[in-house]
Amino acid sequence: MNIKQFTADVRENVDQRLNQLIETSLGSSALKEAMAYGVLLGGKRIRPYLTMTVAELCGAKIDDALDAACAVELIHAYSLIHDDLPAMDDDELRRGHPTCHVKFGEATAILAGDALQTLAFEVLSSTHNTTLPAARRIAMIQQLAQASGANGMCLGQALDLNATGQSIDEQALETIHRHKTGALIRASAALGALSGSESSQQYLSDFCDFASWIGLAYQVYDDILDVIGNTEIMGKPQGSDEAHHKATYVALLGLDGANEKLLSLHQQALLSLNKIPYNTQKLETFSEILLQRDH
Ligand code: IPE
Ligand code: IPE
Ligand code: MG
Ligand code: MG
Ligand code: MG
Repeated sequence: MNIKQFTADVRENVDQRLNQLIETSLGSSALKEAMAYGVLLGGKRIRPYLTMTVAELCGAKIDDALDAACAVELIHAYSLIHDDLPAMDDDELRRGHPTCHVKFGEATAILAGDALQTLAFEVLSSTHNTTLPAARRIAMIQQLAQASGANGMCLGQALDLNATGQSIDEQALETIHRHKTGALIRASAALGALSGSESSQQYLSDFCDFASWIGLAYQVYDDILDVIGNTEIMGKPQGSDEAHHKATYVALLGLDGANEKLLSLHQQALLSLNKIPYNTQKLETFSEILLQRDH
């Protein structure tokens, strides 16, 4: 089974809710069009899958989990729009379409990213759909904000830009990857757990450990795909990292070294599931499918 088949049910629910959020919260404008373009036009939805699956294991109400999953995906979509900008990775293809700034211009793309980011926090702080206690919703907002900001994804992106064209050691590269990609994937699991029952909260940090290993592995494999992948299948340009002299696991360790690293991270992820006394088979399968994907 490929990754898109695996996440199909979650994708359908998440896309429907995201569509509703974009449609109902805004008037008609180029900004709204660019936001919809950035978040609705494809995407594997692996972060929402993780949120929904952890939430299900933790006994969450579906609507609470769905809003948490959408919030994470909104942050992810914003990060991709900004990641592709000329001042950052300067890429022109994303999810098989021209990147947001190519289609709408840089200013609108920047604003669409900004607005998707704030929409994520609007969703989490809205009381319409939820019976979750306020303390839980504040904890979700805090987890997502920390994972996205100057100690999370933004820091990772800043370190990534600084490392471009530089030679850095493996520890420095791991720090970049843990922040730019790992932090949001960890938060995806955290938000799933936080939407669950009181008794499941004791396993929150175990779910987060699993997601941290998976998050690092996900970016290692993204580096590998940049070398061995196919532009048409990936929907983003193969070879972009090398062309832009990016610091990646393949550049540092070679393809074999990067693949070895991937296997050892996967083992760590599986080990961390042992601490959780629920049936975590779905997460195991998810981790396997993630690391064999072709896009
Ligand atoms: C791409 O993320 C950027 C990384 C953090 C590796 P995804 O591989 O999840 O991209 P989409 O959302 O499926 O397009
Ligand atoms: C993406 O890393 C990290 C974030 C978007 C936060 P990459 O720059 O490797 O992602 P792709 O390869 O462009 O999707
Ligand atoms: Mg980048
Ligand atoms: Mg990029
Ligand atoms: Mg990449």
